[in-house]
Amino acid sequence: MGQYSRHPPHTVIEVPKVPNNYTGGLEFTGLTYTVTKKKKDDDGNWVKQEVDLLHEITGYASKGCITGVMGPSGAGKSTFLDGLAGRIASGSLKGRVSLDGNDVSPSLIKRTSAYIMQDDRLFPMLTVYETLMFAADFRLGSISRTDKKQRVDTLIEQLGLSSTRNTYIGDEGIRGVSGGERRRVSIGVDIIHGPSLLFLDEPTSGLDSTSAQSVIEKVHDIARAGSTVILTIHQPSARIQLLLDHLIILARGQLMYQGSPKDVALHLGRMGRKVPKGENSIEYLIDVIQEYDQSDHGVDPLAEFALTGMKPPTLADDDMSISTVVPSPIPPRRSHSRNHAERPSGKESVGKRLHLQTGARNDKDFDHSVRSPWNTSRSWSASQSGFMQTLKFTPSRQPHGQKMLNPMR
Ligand SMILES: Nc1ncnc2c1ncn2[C@@H]1O[C@H](COP(=O)(O)OP(=O)(O)O)[C@@H](O)[C@H]1O
Ligand SMILES: [Mg+2]
Repeated sequence: MGQYSRHPPHTVIEVPKVPNNYTGGLEFTGLTYTVTKKKKDDDGNWVKQEVDLLHEITGYASKGCITGVMGPSGAGKSTFLDGLAGRIASGSLKGRVSLDGNDVSPSLIKRTSAYIMQDDRLFPMLTVYETLMFAADFRLGSISRTDKKQRVDTLIEQLGLSSTRNTYIGDEGIRGVSGGERRRVSIGVDIIHGPSLLFLDEPTSGLDSTSAQSVIEKVHDIARAGSTVILTIHQPSARIQLLLDHLIILARGQLMYQGSPKDVALHLGRMGRKVPKGENSIEYLIDVIQEYDQSDHGVDPLAEFALTGMKPPTLADDDMSISTVVPSPIPPRRSHSRNHAERPSGKESVGKRLHLQTGARNDKDFDHSVRSPWNTSRSWSASQSGFMQTLKFTPSRQPHGQKMLNPMR
């Protein structure tokens, strides 16, 4: 047991659970992704260690909502998204995932969802309309040209691209659409077939704040029209934070917070860390996470608090001597009460499963073949229920003017 066990358990148990007004979406239980890492011990011998890149992540992402995944660099956000989206190699990911209450296999999720990556490969010499028509031809197969055009028109309107409909995508040489518009076009390409589940890895990276805002606003509209949207996002502005319905905060592959963005301040208060006046509560929580991460305690007490409500230990002044504004990626941390990966005494750590210890630093130690976008994974214990969601173009099914109610409110 960690040294924080002397603290009395808090009365509020914050085990992530699906709210009463949950109207469907994605649920995940005990998602754990373990990789084997090689490292040298004190005698210079290579030893194998199991490391959890994701450790027992349980939660949900409701339909009609945007779920934002946040956390410091190297926290496991992209890994988490990959795991949910069925992009982790078979046998490596443990846990269960269900969609609208039915257990689903990762391969089914992979086939029926859209995964939008940061690097958008678009043809500079095509216009916005031509790009989306090309995607429609490619992804919608045999439906009539009129139906394809209608779908593209709906999408152009939905993504706020009407004024740039006939503008070239462009590149460094040819003047084309703006960065935000470009990102919205690439989202359009990936959702042309109307998937009801959308994963976006850092959709705002590299964009200025106005463009970033425009992307998330459109994604928000898509969610409200009935899709389940899960995105990773780094340092969102306060205005973007308002567009997130649900937050999942990770650090070192562990769940630090799950719930409404509005309740982050409450969570911090219960933890004994009242948000200072004028500070943004989400930013403050991430600062607190970094403080623990760089202290001897590590982030385990915060994971424990998120799970059981057991109050974490107060950090002593010398624990906090390292500034909270340490740049990412996280530097190697000092010895730790529960994890021993950085400890000089090699013995106790050998063969033991650890939580994620460092950021990109040890990347070369991993076998990258274990995670491949081309793998079809059968690693979840979820039964192959045969459940298949019929793909419909969800947004256009919404009668005109009818707003989707946010089940989270
Ligand atoms: N294929 C892989 N095998 C092993 N470790 C990996 C692999 N991909 C990423 N990692 C490690 O997992 C951690 C989390 O990475 P990632 O999910 O990309 O973080 P984030 O998206 O939060 O910045 C990092 O320490 C990274 O080095
Ligand atoms: Mg990432």
